[in-house]
Amino acid sequence: MKILVTGGLGFIGSHTVVELQNKGFEVVIIDDLSNSSEEALDGITAITNVKPHFEKLDLKIKTDVQDFFKRHNDIAGVIHFAASKAVGESVLEPLKYYENNISTLVYLLQELKGLSRKNFIFSSSCTVYGQADELPITENAPVKPAESPYGNTKQIGEEIISDTCKVNEDINAIALRYFNPIGAHPSTEIGELPIGVPQNLVPYITQTGIGMREQLSVFGGDYLTSDGTCVRDYIHVVDLAKAHVVALQRLLENKNDSNYEFFNLGSGKGSTVLEAIQSFERVSGKVLNYKIVDRREGDITAAYAETSKANNVLGWKTQLSLDDAMDSAWKWEQKIRNK
Ligand code: WQD
Repeated sequence: MKILVTGGLGFIGSHTVVELQNKGFEVVIIDDLSNSSEEALDGITAITNVKPHFEKLDLKIKTDVQDFFKRHNDIAGVIHFAASKAVGESVLEPLKYYENNISTLVYLLQELKGLSRKNFIFSSSCTVYGQADELPITENAPVKPAESPYGNTKQIGEEIISDTCKVNEDINAIALRYFNPIGAHPSTEIGELPIGVPQNLVPYITQTGIGMREQLSVFGGDYLTSDGTCVRDYIHVVDLAKAHVVALQRLLENKNDSNYEFFNLGSGKGSTVLEAIQSFERVSGKVLNYKIVDRREGDITAAYAETSKANNVLGWKTQLSLDDAMDSAWKWEQKIRNK
């Protein structure tokens, strides 16, 4: 069966393409290469020995999207990753985020109607919860006003899909709310592409560990947590990728309870920033140079998933630990720096 993966050369997208191919799916990738590289295509092929079909395409161009679906009307499912995802950048350039993350979703859903099988997996985020009132966070936690245009595009995206599914019973969709994806494929053939100064914690840790960055700034040491630093639910990107295949199979096998479902994807375990640093030091044998500085604007104190719905309904749970993920991130960092 042919599956379209938009953003399939990106961080989570490329790992999901590998897991789809491992399950025997034929994969077609659309990517505009704005935040990815064709090298990921070689990496995927090196892992699976099957080169996915790739089309460089800007999903903001409606006629190009329509033309693509005319040429691929046998698509059995769409996994939609393609979106801008830098929280800080979204505050400075909201219109870029609303155009890129919303118009592309609308065009894809419009084309879905022309397919015989209308299955759609949406890349969402735990950011929709903001600072949840209760921890761990269940899917019943209220969606709070977004802290950034990026987070708002995920909330709006879920609403667009929900409204579309309400009046199109033959469209089946699942939104996956990721907690914090980290790590890389154990083969070190694919991983998180380092463009510019990393905004996220783990790439900054590994770049500090390899000497690219002088010192990691820990944003805030006075939060009401076990050691004063923020708590997050770090999930190995390979575990996350496998969840997308499980969600897609749920729709392909008509096992979904309704035609719009959503699931939290996390490990269920919260780790502080200092615990993440300790994990890096364990797996690398290095001492990380870091300094606790002021809080970062917009950060929430703590977020980690309540995983029973994903475990019991979706039938998926994480298999890999924080150390496994950190070890894979470190091995990836060493690989790309030694090129
Ligand atoms: C994690 C923790 C920081 C960098 C965001 C988005 C989320 C998803 C992942 C896209 C926080 C601390 C970080 C640093 C630090 N993005 N930190 N020093 O903010 O939880 O989530 O990225 O899908 O939607 O909201 O991830 O990795 O930026 O931060 O101390 O140099 O690490 O304060 O507590 P975050 P993060």
